[in-house]
Amino acid sequence: MLEDDVAKVLISEKEIQTRTKELARQISADYAGKDLVLVCILKGGITFLADLMREMTVPHAIDFMAISSYGASTESSGIVRILKDLDASIDGRHVLIVEDIIDTGRTLNYILANLQTRHPASLRVCTLLNKPSRREIQIPLAYVGFQVPNEFVVGYGLDYVEKYRNLRFVGVLKPEIYQAKPLPSQEVPT
Ligand code: PRP
Repeated sequence: MLEDDVAKVLISEKEIQTRTKELARQISADYAGKDLVLVCILKGGITFLADLMREMTVPHAIDFMAISSYGASTESSGIVRILKDLDASIDGRHVLIVEDIIDTGRTLNYILANLQTRHPASLRVCTLLNKPSRREIQIPLAYVGFQVPNEFVVGYGLDYVEKYRNLRFVGVLKPEIYQAKPLPSQEVPT
């Protein structure tokens, strides 16, 4: 069982649902009457996007970007390559990026700079999780679901070597799992 690899539940399914509804209500009010595009950053953002959009009442399009981080380390280097670009133009449209987690901020810093050159009417960020203790580049976050401590979190879209994304909650991975096979995409807590 995947759950057996989780040391503790950090944010329950119910807590995620409640907070997602609150964010969706706020976003729907803020973007009323605007041409809104939700941009999901693959892959981790898909679960949050799927739930958030179904709670939103304001009309909107969805689009996707996939990026890959360069560098020797599996940590995000900030030097990224676009594997899949947006399908549609965002010129003159209101863009809200939907992410699962902001860690160092390097990935989002690149994406924001890249999308800004395409002249959106506005460009803001909605993230389910924020790990401020790891931040290297300050990013303005318009909507944040939860602040999380510097622990190795998985579930609800977040993976460890592509597993655990389908857990319905956000949990802390048991250290023996990532210490046995050290390929973390997050800093191992000290
Ligand atoms: C995660 C997350 C963000 C990024 C945040 O993606 O979804 O895109 O890392 O890290 P940063 O703030 O340090 O740049 P990941 O590279 O794990 O890819 P995935 O979503 O496909 O799992």
